[in-house]
Amino acid sequence: RQNERESLYIVLNYAKNFYQQQLHHSEEGQAIGLSYFRERGFSAEIRKKFELGYSLDTWDAFSREAMAKGHSADLLEKAGLLIRKEDNGAGNRHSPGYDRFRGRVIFPIHNVAGKVIAFGARILKSEKGGNAKQANQPKYLNSPETDVYHKSEVLYGIYQAKNAIRNQELCYLVEGYTDVISLHQAGIENVVASSGTSLTTEQIRLISRFAPNVTILYDGDIAGIKAALRGLDLVLEEGLNVNIVLFPDGEDPDSYVRKVGAEAFKAYLRQASKDFITFKTEILLKDAGNDPFRQAAVIGEVVNSIVRIPEAIKRQVFFHRTSEMMKVDEQMLITEGNKLLRKQQ
Ligand code: UTP
Ligand code: MN
Ligand code: MN
Ligand code: MN
Ligand code: MN
Repeated sequence: RQNERESLYIVLNYAKNFYQQQLHHSEEGQAIGLSYFRERGFSAEIRKKFELGYSLDTWDAFSREAMAKGHSADLLEKAGLLIRKEDNGAGNRHSPGYDRFRGRVIFPIHNVAGKVIAFGARILKSEKGGNAKQANQPKYLNSPETDVYHKSEVLYGIYQAKNAIRNQELCYLVEGYTDVISLHQAGIENVVASSGTSLTTEQIRLISRFAPNVTILYDGDIAGIKAALRGLDLVLEEGLNVNIVLFPDGEDPDSYVRKVGAEAFKAYLRQASKDFITFKTEILLKDAGNDPFRQAAVIGEVVNSIVRIPEAIKRQVFFHRTSEMMKVDEQMLITEGNKLLRKQQ
């Protein structure tokens, strides 16, 4: 078992080196991958820090080379790098299947200790774009679950961010790979990504090993707001403090920092950061309009978040804040909260 995991780390590290090599030293990698990263403003230093790469647009360039170096097709498949051909009995030793990642820029995913455990791979050009072959392909292709990659437990960038998170006692949580990278380049290093999936308890526990405070920086679209509302409850449940920054519609941290620059971006983080009660009431009250029943429901929603906080003293502070903000009786909030708490048990 231990040996099997070790072999996976070895072949994943080999793949990472291969993709990096292709990005910087192959003609195709330079013409397509490197120019893509340059267009996005990723410096040589940042490409190296995140070990970015490129996978050639061929069927099996990687697998052939890896097998020639002694990595078995079995291992490549277990690492999520090779997709086996339907077994036709022939068993072609030279072409056992095809590479999972082809014609994409590569984002290695590291565990806390810095070992490569998976890859994210982006098609080139625009959102839907890429070349003709990629027309119906997802924007990002990710490694499947393997013995060393459990998506729900991983945060992209945790290895590169952990010291900064510890030092600043704060972790910024973003949606995407490129958000993490762009913020590093802007000098904000305490940042990790949930990588598009909804945040999990395991991911929050990982953050809590390094810092007690989380600020959610999700994309400024409806999906981002919904994900932030879900995420903040989970963060509260794990006993961490949570703030939220909402970006202008259509912007994500990467696009916004490139648009306004590092200093204005940092100022925006300070000025637009909201505690969870303010964020939740503002978002929900906007929908409630003048309907008093729906306004009352908003208060209920806020109470529903507060009761997730494990510490009674913190709950008390937030009940007090809510009563002042919403101009409702504090004791009534506490009574409602206690009803929900009893239901939880
Ligand atoms: P986004 O669609 O916001 O992409 O998805 P992005 O990170 O801003 O990427 P760019 O700027 O267009 O290059 C957020 C994250 O969701 C995951 C990825 O981890 C992505 O970074 N995702 C998205 C996928 O896994 N697959 C997809 O097809 C799309
Ligand atoms: Mn998005
Ligand atoms: Mn995005
Ligand atoms: Mn983006
Ligand atoms: Mn009080």
